[in-house]
Amino acid sequence: MFNIVVLVSGGGTNLQAIIDNVENGNLKDVRIAKVISNKGDAFALKRAAKHGIEGEVISPKSYPSRDIFNEALKTAIDAAEPDLIVLAGFLVVVPPVIIRAYRNRIINIHPSLIPSFCGKGFYGLKVHEEALKRGVKVTGATVHFVDEGTDTGPIIIQKAVYVEEGDTPEILQKRVMEQAEWIILSKAIELISQGKVYVEDGVAHIR
Ligand code: GRF
Repeated sequence: MFNIVVLVSGGGTNLQAIIDNVENGNLKDVRIAKVISNKGDAFALKRAAKHGIEGEVISPKSYPSRDIFNEALKTAIDAAEPDLIVLAGFLVVVPPVIIRAYRNRIINIHPSLIPSFCGKGFYGLKVHEEALKRGVKVTGATVHFVDEGTDTGPIIIQKAVYVEEGDTPEILQKRVMEQAEWIILSKAIELISQGKVYVEDGVAHIR
């Protein structure tokens, strides 16, 4: 069984896509061992509970220092003995202690075609606002391994989505989620669970 831990902060639509793909058989031999959120009111936790998946809240606000929070987060992750950690809208910086312990075993979904519209401050609607401001005709989503930088790890999968006349950031965000994020995140998990992804000289390849 390929165990994954999913880290979330918000609505959990990407988590839901993974849950659906596990339950409909698209993600064979994959098990969501635990969902961890930094926010107790994250709707993603309700989605997990509805499907009998253990949820846990590890909030920086509950710890006297960021270092102690980081250790608590690592302890909660380690307890699930994951083969892969999936960041699905997780808005907390993953500390180096976890990156080092899970080198090339942490993936993130970003709502643009990296290296466009990514890096510090580029998350959620802001990404789509900037894409519309720049007037790009194609955007999309990227799944990448997480390293010590922000959206800088090896790219695993990308999927393009057309920007349409009259798009608002909200409309574009929804299209990118539906046409790209919810598809490629599960695809990346499938490929990694099958041992088909490897990193060479900082570049991810699919065998
Ligand atoms: C998604 O847009 C994802 O690309 C970004 O954060 C958002 C999370 O949405 N990383 P959800 O919680 O999965 O609905």
